[in-house]
Amino acid sequence: MLLCLGVACCMAACTDRPSHEAEMDKFVSDLMGRMTLEEKIGQLNLPTVGFDVTGPLMSTDVEQKIKNGQVGGVFNTFTPVAVRKLQEIAVTQTRLHIPLIFGYDVIHGHRTIYPIPLGLSATWDVELVERVAAAVADEASADGLHWTFSPMVDVARDPRWGRVSEGAGEDPYLGAEMAKAMVRGYEQGDLSKQNTLMSCIKHFALYGAAEAGRDYNTTDMSRLRMYNEYLPPYQAAVEAGASSVMTSFNEVDGVPATGNRWLLTDLLRRQWGFGGFVVTDYTAIMEMENHGVGSKAKVAELAVNAGVDMDMVSEYLLDELPALVKAGKVKEETVDAACRRILEAKYKLGLFTDPYRGLSEARAEAQIMSAEKLALSKEAALKSIVLLKNDRQTLPLDASKKIAFIGPLVRDQRNLIGNWSAAGNPQQAVSLWSALESKFGARKFTYAKGCNLTDDAALRSQLNRHGGDITPDSRTPQQLISEAVQAAQKADVVVAVLGEPFGMSGEAASRTSIDLPDSQKALLKALKATGKPVALVLMNGRPLTLQWEHDHLDAILETWYAGTRAGDAIADILFGDANPSGKITMTFPRSVGQIPIYYSHKNTGRPFSEQEKYTSKYLDESNEPLYPFGHGQSYTQFTYSAVQLSDTALAADGSVTATVTLTNSGARAGEEVAQLYIRDRVGSITRPVKELKGFQKVALQPGESRQVTFTITPELLKFYNADLRYAAEPGEFWVFIGGSSATENKAAFELGITN
Ligand code: BGC
Repeated sequence: MLLCLGVACCMAACTDRPSHEAEMDKFVSDLMGRMTLEEKIGQLNLPTVGFDVTGPLMSTDVEQKIKNGQVGGVFNTFTPVAVRKLQEIAVTQTRLHIPLIFGYDVIHGHRTIYPIPLGLSATWDVELVERVAAAVADEASADGLHWTFSPMVDVARDPRWGRVSEGAGEDPYLGAEMAKAMVRGYEQGDLSKQNTLMSCIKHFALYGAAEAGRDYNTTDMSRLRMYNEYLPPYQAAVEAGASSVMTSFNEVDGVPATGNRWLLTDLLRRQWGFGGFVVTDYTAIMEMENHGVGSKAKVAELAVNAGVDMDMVSEYLLDELPALVKAGKVKEETVDAACRRILEAKYKLGLFTDPYRGLSEARAEAQIMSAEKLALSKEAALKSIVLLKNDRQTLPLDASKKIAFIGPLVRDQRNLIGNWSAAGNPQQAVSLWSALESKFGARKFTYAKGCNLTDDAALRSQLNRHGGDITPDSRTPQQLISEAVQAAQKADVVVAVLGEPFGMSGEAASRTSIDLPDSQKALLKALKATGKPVALVLMNGRPLTLQWEHDHLDAILETWYAGTRAGDAIADILFGDANPSGKITMTFPRSVGQIPIYYSHKNTGRPFSEQEKYTSKYLDESNEPLYPFGHGQSYTQFTYSAVQLSDTALAADGSVTATVTLTNSGARAGEEVAQLYIRDRVGSITRPVKELKGFQKVALQPGESRQVTFTITPELLKFYNADLRYAAEPGEFWVFIGGSSATENKAAFELGITN
């Protein structure tokens, strides 16, 4: 049944934007003209139907509510059958036949799972990330979905926070590039195409700055830090055309984000010109009561007057808005504006033309886990893997040697797809062991489990309560270790495959220690004691503290949770069929005491000095991280020439180029991420010691050289000053180009007078 009310029929053919907008306005106005206040309020309601809840369930009678016109969309329902069933209720059994919007947390894949977002960002491959987002949209839309709660673009500098796994790491520039790529990939600039997904920028704002890395905790920061360091990825995603924004759980300037008018209206809509709709995070309106800013009615009023359009789960708007409008506390125009934005999103998605947009079993069959998507999952996994350390060419492995694969993750499938794995099925994930068997045949290598993922019973039961599946082995920890040691003793090389069980990262998974679990550290120590070379393969969702591992092991390969094809990708890298090219996008600290630690810090008045007592340092730890932002090795070597500038003076309306010759001076083909950093030597406010301002991923054959050039314009040098004016200031700048944020390869230029 089609809901063609005249205008919708032109949608497919309509390419002319202004007239398209006018048609949409007319359509939505006509429709709203026939809606009651209650029906408009109904559009603002987003209950969950299905699984994957991350909080209390507030609504159990959703089908009845749909019939009553009290639901604008649902989330956690997918598959053509399930979506059709609810959509049919909306379009056949409600007074105005308004279709529902279907959302889901499709974070790094729907059924085909790609590396976690932190891993995807480690590819530094914007084009790849865009392709991944497009493939995700294709698959998820074939499974009935219209809307993904992604990308998460929260800048995150505290690895204790479990949700660092969901974003692009610590840097605003890289974060903005990744955010734009994902929005472009999901939305394709045209949501009426059935293979797109509406994106949702989250969590607005500053969620990544939760105090002490404890999830949902308070944030507090200066406007300068917000504008210069935390807001750029959100703004970039808005400018890339994201159609929706999700509020965050935390407060901003003492007001919960969900009730913060400055944030949701002044900044987002007025300053940035955001034209889509704002949805709250899960029960975030209700949670404002806990924040202590008012009762149920008050927080509903605050949210909608701040600029919230859609209420995820709490149903406070549904319950309270009629009376609030009647009492004049919320203007009817405010409800109208929110309702209009949601109807516009539905219109843009083409739902008024075809409420069953893209729904067909045949399409689902063809698109879900198609060969192309599985190939892309492997490509992304390969490029996300980071070689943190590799002494004496321990890696790649020589398959003619005796190799013992040891650890509870060697044969594991569940952890490969990580947290927020949407509809991913662990049974379809390729374990490292099965990849080795496909590559080399069965029984080529030896295996020992070596330890449990954790022997901490309290932690295990917490993780198992929330979807974990950690069963302690019937053997004692000592037996497991001694079997592993025996296997190691018979081998030439040991590969230990360890990490965090997936539930130890992600939402509500903050940690005060970010070491490997004790059971795993004990195993590593025993393996080290055999005297055999040990390569550590890690699967985890955050930077870990790996000082002991760095000091004692021969190689460390960070594979994150690499997705459905993880095993295949890891096996290719371990045996040199692929060369690692990923670079970390969050600093790896030496110890938790250094946190927050990030490369783009400010200088102090007393910078570190070994000799002087009264300088900024620790008595018991270096200031330096274990692995700096941007770090990642290769099986080949890359050398950088000195930075050549086209000029040492940059005019206010001019540009200079900075060039290096990058050479693959090793024996294998490889890819290197050349990174451009800038330091503004003197500013009206203090400036970071380095800021990423560009990067290029370059593939080079052995012996090949290439010139890598970055163009620097005054635009690139702008920042928000104490008056929040965005401008570049004249003076000296340093330009660094190298293979990580630790590079000292630099040249200097002078920016002339700007206006
Ligand atoms: C998370 C969001 C997520 C939402 C819906 C919340 O708990 O913070 O990131 O999109 O749940 O599942």
